[in-house]
Amino acid sequence: MDRDGPQTIRISLDGQAIDAQRGDTVAAALLRAGITTFTRSIKYHRPRGPFCLQGSCGQCLMRIDGAPSLLACRVLAEEGMICQRQNAPLGAEKDIFRAADFLFPEGLDHHHLMTGSRLLGRVALEVARRLAGLGELPDKPRAPVEAELRKARLVIVGAGPAGLAAARAAGDALRAAEGGVLLLEREPRPGGGALLAIDPALPDRDQIAQMALALQGEVMLDSECVGLYANDTALPGNALVAVRQRGRLLLLIAERVLVAVGGASQPLPFAGVDRPGVHAARGLVALPAMVGERLVVVGEGKELVDCARALRRKGYLLERVIALGKSWPAAADLPIEENQPRRALGNPVRALQVGDSRIHCDAVAIAMNPAPLHELASSVGAHARWVAEVGGFPIQVDGEGRTSVPWLFAAGRCAGLGGSAALNSGEAAGRAAGRG
Ligand code: FES
Repeated sequence: MDRDGPQTIRISLDGQAIDAQRGDTVAAALLRAGITTFTRSIKYHRPRGPFCLQGSCGQCLMRIDGAPSLLACRVLAEEGMICQRQNAPLGAEKDIFRAADFLFPEGLDHHHLMTGSRLLGRVALEVARRLAGLGELPDKPRAPVEAELRKARLVIVGAGPAGLAAARAAGDALRAAEGGVLLLEREPRPGGGALLAIDPALPDRDQIAQMALALQGEVMLDSECVGLYANDTALPGNALVAVRQRGRLLLLIAERVLVAVGGASQPLPFAGVDRPGVHAARGLVALPAMVGERLVVVGEGKELVDCARALRRKGYLLERVIALGKSWPAAADLPIEENQPRRALGNPVRALQVGDSRIHCDAVAIAMNPAPLHELASSVGAHARWVAEVGGFPIQVDGEGRTSVPWLFAAGRCAGLGGSAALNSGEAAGRAAGRG
């Protein structure tokens, strides 16, 4: 036991004791213990496991300490924590309601199920209502949390490379102002995607630490922006920013907001991609545990090559690296080939069918460019539009990061600018937002 207590803690899942490492999320602890089915799909009760491992896909929802539908990949495991799988009354591993898949091979149209008879229709509706849905109400009402109201000239959401560059550029302009730059980061340390050391074009950990030290403004870690609104209260300021912190809420009134919230990992359209054992490559790099030894990595371009190398550095054996397109950076060190995945096999997945061959593995990693997280900006009316090369809907910005909302700026991957472009866009947007 060291000074801070034992490194191994114990949680439970559906009554079964599970050893976890201090610092594990619930998802990491369960995967470390070899548990891959976290929940069942709402309609057909198909097994589901964590995909993104970074809080964006919703495939890891679990009841934790009596609170329903929490993201197991975002909740830190704590001694004695009680975790329960939802939506599978007779057990998630052998859920008998998966029979829905066999009973309705053409698909279950619940809108028209038994509607020929009014009585049977009502019965069918009631049964469907009970079988579907997610979780049950909490064991007890939540205790009220503290809330605080603060003012800031500029709030920057996200302390990845773009957010840090923006805060540094804005800091000088606002240094003397009361309540200058406030930088929010949902993780316990700044750096965002750069901490994964996947993209060599991004600053390394030491450079990130120096950038954070050199900031003029205030940095709030473990602080997740959960809402952004135009301010129509009587209080002066253009925006309201709702922030969730451990055990309390913060409401910020800001003159300007700059979002640098990055992107979210995406799956691919092939059969079985939604089975346990298929994960986002970035999620696996970030995960403190391993999900076996042998991986097949599937993806596109530079992201595929960078992620495959990062996974190999982590200790995985790469059975095959499958490139969807014809172009990728030179990678003679990788077992890479152009091909198309057809089907993931097994539960959890233990093989990937590619063309006519079957590649055996412990898990499949998907390495596509993360899709821009535009939702926060879109929620206040900022324009975003589909860009095929980006693979998502980046927030539309001008050369200084201005969006279609006068008080809102955006930088980095959420504006479609990844890699070194993220830093440059953060600097330009930070300068402009600092000037006002
Ligand atoms: S949200 Fe938890 S795995 Fe995606």
